[in-house]
Amino acid sequence: MKEINTIVVGELNVDIILNRIDRFPEMGKEILAESLDLTLGSSSAIFASNLSSLGSNVAFIGKIGKDGFASTVLDSLQLKKVDTSKVLQSETLNTGATIVLNFDQDRANVTYPGAMKDLKFDDLDWEFIKKANHLHFSSIFLQPGIRSDLPKMFRKAKEMGLTTSLDPQWDPAEEWDINLQELLPQLNIFMPNISEFLLITKSSTLKEGIEKVEEYAPDIILIIKDGANGAFAWKENNLIHQPAFLNENVVDCIGAGDSFNAGFIHKFTQGCLLTECLKYGALTGAVSTTRAGGTGAFSNLEAIQNIAVEHFSILI
Ligand SMILES: Nc1ncnc2c1ncn2[C@@H]1O[C@H](COP(=O)(O)OP(=O)(O)OP(=O)(O)O)[C@@H](O)[C@H]1O
Ligand SMILES: [Mg+2]
Repeated sequence: MKEINTIVVGELNVDIILNRIDRFPEMGKEILAESLDLTLGSSSAIFASNLSSLGSNVAFIGKIGKDGFASTVLDSLQLKKVDTSKVLQSETLNTGATIVLNFDQDRANVTYPGAMKDLKFDDLDWEFIKKANHLHFSSIFLQPGIRSDLPKMFRKAKEMGLTTSLDPQWDPAEEWDINLQELLPQLNIFMPNISEFLLITKSSTLKEGIEKVEEYAPDIILIIKDGANGAFAWKENNLIHQPAFLNENVVDCIGAGDSFNAGFIHKFTQGCLLTECLKYGALTGAVSTTRAGGTGAFSNLEAIQNIAVEHFSILI
């Protein structure tokens, strides 16, 4: 076993969440929110944080600014024992932020990417990456500085003996422009949700999408998340379905996908069977829905274990 279980390369930002606003804002007017939460945002950071809470040794490589939000990001990751020694701080760019307006059961988000756009292949410290067993990357479309070098990054990691995984996440431009032929063969695990999967593979059914992936990367493990319908795994011509751990205590589904990924990768890096990784991912995805936000249910292992017993009658 190496020093680090998983290195996460990805985007970092804070979420500024405004709750209980009485109507949607109009240009030229002002409204009040009754509460504000400033929390760690971003898919990659929620994944890293929750993976660390599950007991993996996790390190992060990303880019933030040198502002107050940077301290929020670093403090939150460090509180969860994520190694932030390789998080870079730009002198000129601000830390990314998402302003979330929670209104009438729905959310309107505006994201300022800031320093996350500037993370580049040349920023990666390969002597450090070499110390890990696994490399995970999340949110391709938010990181134009490194996007075209992702096949190169994953290839180099694989050559150093790491296993690799990618969660593409949503494309805000909705162009879904990825060179699958170049990228997929460099991955051990590809983990989009079902909408992202169909858009990225330009397919109208799961079967059609899987056929395209199989053509480029016959050895890949494909994980497709489908909310309350659970998740699919495809490996070596076998399609497995894992039902969701449904519960009546859903607070919100923020970060359920990242929490699923954390559970799956935690088991994967321990060498567990695919069915076990998948079941644990579904459980951690469901655990995430029982508390507010992406990291609320993952304060530490004991808290996660208590939720698993209380809501799902499962001992972990
Ligand atoms: N309402 C729910 N109840 C139980 N489990 C859920 C629920 N929603 C999601 N999950 C679990 O979490 C997994 C991931 O959720 P989802 O499909 O929403 O991912 P995603 O769209 O990538 O989410 P994210 O917004 O975090 O990126 C699902 O496959 C399922 O196992
Ligand atoms: Mg997702």
